[in-house]
Amino acid sequence: MAGLIPQDFIDDLIARADIVEVVGKRVQLKKAGREFKACCPFHDEKSPSFTVSPGKGFYHCFGCGAHGTAIGFLMEFDHMSFVDAIESLANSMGVEVPRSESDQPARRYDELFSLMESVARHWQDCLKDSPAAVDYLKKRGIDGSTAKRYGIGFAPDGWSNVLDKFGQSDEAAERLLATGLIIRKDNGKHYDRFRDRLMFPIRDARGRTIGFGGRTLGDGEPKYLNSPETVLFHKGRELYGLYESRQALRHIDRLVIVEGYMDTVALARHGIDFAVATLGTATTSEHLNRLFRLTENAYFSFDGDRAGRKAAWRALENALPQIREGRQIRFVFLPDGEDPDSFVNANGADAFVKLLDNGLPLSEFLIQELASQVDMETIDGRARLAEMARPLVNKLPDGVYKELLIDGLASSVGLTAPKLEAMLEKGKSSAPGANAARQTVATKAAKMPISGQPSVVRRAITLVLNHPEAGRKLDTEKLASVSRPGTDLLAALIETVQQEPNITTAGLLERWRHDEKGRHLGKLAAADVPLDEDFDAAAELAECLQQLALAGRKERIDYLIEKQRLGGLDETEKSELRALH
Ligand code: CTP
Ligand code: MN
Repeated sequence: MAGLIPQDFIDDLIARADIVEVVGKRVQLKKAGREFKACCPFHDEKSPSFTVSPGKGFYHCFGCGAHGTAIGFLMEFDHMSFVDAIESLANSMGVEVPRSESDQPARRYDELFSLMESVARHWQDCLKDSPAAVDYLKKRGIDGSTAKRYGIGFAPDGWSNVLDKFGQSDEAAERLLATGLIIRKDNGKHYDRFRDRLMFPIRDARGRTIGFGGRTLGDGEPKYLNSPETVLFHKGRELYGLYESRQALRHIDRLVIVEGYMDTVALARHGIDFAVATLGTATTSEHLNRLFRLTENAYFSFDGDRAGRKAAWRALENALPQIREGRQIRFVFLPDGEDPDSFVNANGADAFVKLLDNGLPLSEFLIQELASQVDMETIDGRARLAEMARPLVNKLPDGVYKELLIDGLASSVGLTAPKLEAMLEKGKSSAPGANAARQTVATKAAKMPISGQPSVVRRAITLVLNHPEAGRKLDTEKLASVSRPGTDLLAALIETVQQEPNITTAGLLERWRHDEKGRHLGKLAAADVPLDEDFDAAAELAECLQQLALAGRKERIDYLIEKQRLGGLDETEKSELRALH
């Protein structure tokens, strides 16, 4: 529903709404400087800590933390839905809520999804008519009901089977192109992407087919051909088999992450319904986010060879920032030359589950892997281990898990935990605490150590939110190479401010209302940022970006050097490192 109201309209509405009037109609407000105060309507209090800021278009209670825009206030105070709150606000301002404009894209997506579904069905039908494909599945141990559950099909040989059946009109051909099912040649003609392949539909969380993977039946190259990135399909985000797992299991108490389609399907065939695959990409933090929303227990299963160890290491690096108490991550290495598919077919489900149960906890894998890089017999070697561990340990959020990891590391390098901790701290910047953060960034900028400063991003976001005009002239390109959490959000905020020069704090908050990344924006918008005349928000923000650009460069160099030490760099990475130096 929300998507049907054009964003432009919401921007406008929020920019023109008078939050003092909206709140004032329902709560008795008293003027206090630039702001208005009241006893908070959302919790019991005697002295007023509820503040309404007409400049920001935003209310905030210092007592209970309630905060929001005019829309948010109506939702909270009058218990309205989002859409009702917009209707009500628009009504009181004498405007009508337009609905039609964005009907168009919504319909288009629907059409793409249903096209994918039809093609998937068609290929399932084709499978029944292809003895060779059925034979192949049988040879690989996949029975009919598993094939059906995963919607496995077959795309027969030929250049235009899909094109002829589903691409009769120009629009239909455009849709095939948009979903990556056909390819356009230089001469403008089209042909089918998937030919003579076993087809695995990739489904999103709601079970809609968003892409396909196709395997040759023989030794053709490439072995697997996947849908390209499309509006529906983003490879780094999807986990193959997640939808099917959720269908099969009432409660997911663990998930095992494997590398391939056949691994997932073979495990399911053997009753292991909790396997998902990353589709030939490294495990991204987006993958991990999705996983940990469903379960606390994640197992990575990799081949036992060098490539498998490397892939595991990358997964570990991405997983570090997500480690929390209660979350368990284990690494399972299969015997050389085996993958979960071959292993489960040869040894059965119980043996595989046993491997999982005996998997290497993340902390042990980390220590083992580092220890294998140095000579643990020498003091030098152990010191180097501690050195290598530093950037990794610093990625962990503070907490029990981090303490335990440090304990483990300390005992393997023969130091006491406090001593090791001191060593680990040494390379870390003195992270600014609450006090330091309140100082202006500009005055500290020159002295500020470069790494380990998550608060620069936070500070910058706070500045843009509170002083949107400060972002109008900034160049966000510098941010492109910064990997620090929140940087994407920062860049998006600045871009929005540039596109909508009149947008207010409240307008920005509304833009991010339905976005997971915007969850904490409200709190930052309530932060105490100086409003004095001589406070130069634009200069501070520019400083922050400069800091980030520098830090991003440094971070990348550190990462590449570390990687060089651990496993080596490929050619592009080598030349990147040279260029950075
Ligand atoms: N992959 C890919 N493109 C390739 C090769 C692999 O996208 N050319 C992805 C696929 O998702 C594949 C996964 O990487 O499932 C693992 O590849 P690999 O280990 O080579 O294949 P298996 O899964 O073992 O496939 P099979 O057992 O069918 O040989
Ligand atoms: Mn395999």
